[in-house]
Amino acid sequence: MRHLMSPLDLTVEELDNLLTLANDIEHHPEKYADACKGKKLATCFYEPSTRTRLSFESAMLNLGGSVLGFSSADSSSAAKGESVSDTIRVISCYADICAIRHPKEGAALVASLKSSIPVINAGDGGHQHPTQTLTDLLTIYSLKGGLGNLTIGLCGDLKFGRTVHSLIHALIRYPNVRFVLISPEELKIPDYIREDVLKKNDVPFTELERLEDAMSDLDILYMTRVQKERFFNEEDYVRMKDYYILTKDKLTLAKEDMMILHPLPRVNEISVEVDDDPRAVYFQQARYGVYVRMALILTLLKWR
Ligand code: NCD
Repeated sequence: MRHLMSPLDLTVEELDNLLTLANDIEHHPEKYADACKGKKLATCFYEPSTRTRLSFESAMLNLGGSVLGFSSADSSSAAKGESVSDTIRVISCYADICAIRHPKEGAALVASLKSSIPVINAGDGGHQHPTQTLTDLLTIYSLKGGLGNLTIGLCGDLKFGRTVHSLIHALIRYPNVRFVLISPEELKIPDYIREDVLKKNDVPFTELERLEDAMSDLDILYMTRVQKERFFNEEDYVRMKDYYILTKDKLTLAKEDMMILHPLPRVNEISVEVDDDPRAVYFQQARYGVYVRMALILTLLKWR
């Protein structure tokens, strides 16, 4: 049995197979309509979510399976003091596979150690978010035609943004990938990623503060929200929250075929006037999240 805690839990070959499967699902959904008949997905969400939880549920329903779960800690026995380890042991009796989101780093890993069903990390604090990364990879692979030879700008809250951490882990394994890390000083990428992931693997990267200075080099601009819920005080958040706002004006500096991604939710960091630009693909990206989660559920259930 396999779990998914980080994109590194999958080899590049397994990742490629997953993306190929997701691509086939997108084009031939009818082939998969009963693939998970009689199977149940549990979604255990201790933190708010729209896309991740609902795309997981939509994915399982598209596969002919069913879903159960909770969407906040308040509505589960966590409110009575139950541990994640105990909860997952019980969920293992009710479902065949589980997606879990929790505000604490490592919570999904703790769950996986006590689980008798595959556990998928749907976001653990400011740490990792591997299924958003699968979504991002499928988007890039489908719309750019491949995952190598790219200069990727990651902009915004690189400190707390778990989607950024997972995406870097995944993309460094593809050839000729360069990163431009764009953030204010206080929201720079954590040291362990700079040292142990980027430098150790000789991945080229630069760190900048001004989005305008990076724009013309980028093949992909990955915008992120300032992660309000991870700040220790409101004042710092208020100071940081509108640090970057992508406008039509700034986009005039970008390549004609640069792609703008965002895991969503968007707050102010992309002006709504940008939504009509053909380079803005963040709503398409959300759709790819369903196909790739269908592929992941199928694959993890097959490996069981
Ligand atoms: C992201 C998350 O939860 O980390 N959202 C998502 O799952 N699409 C990004 C965010 O909340 O900013």
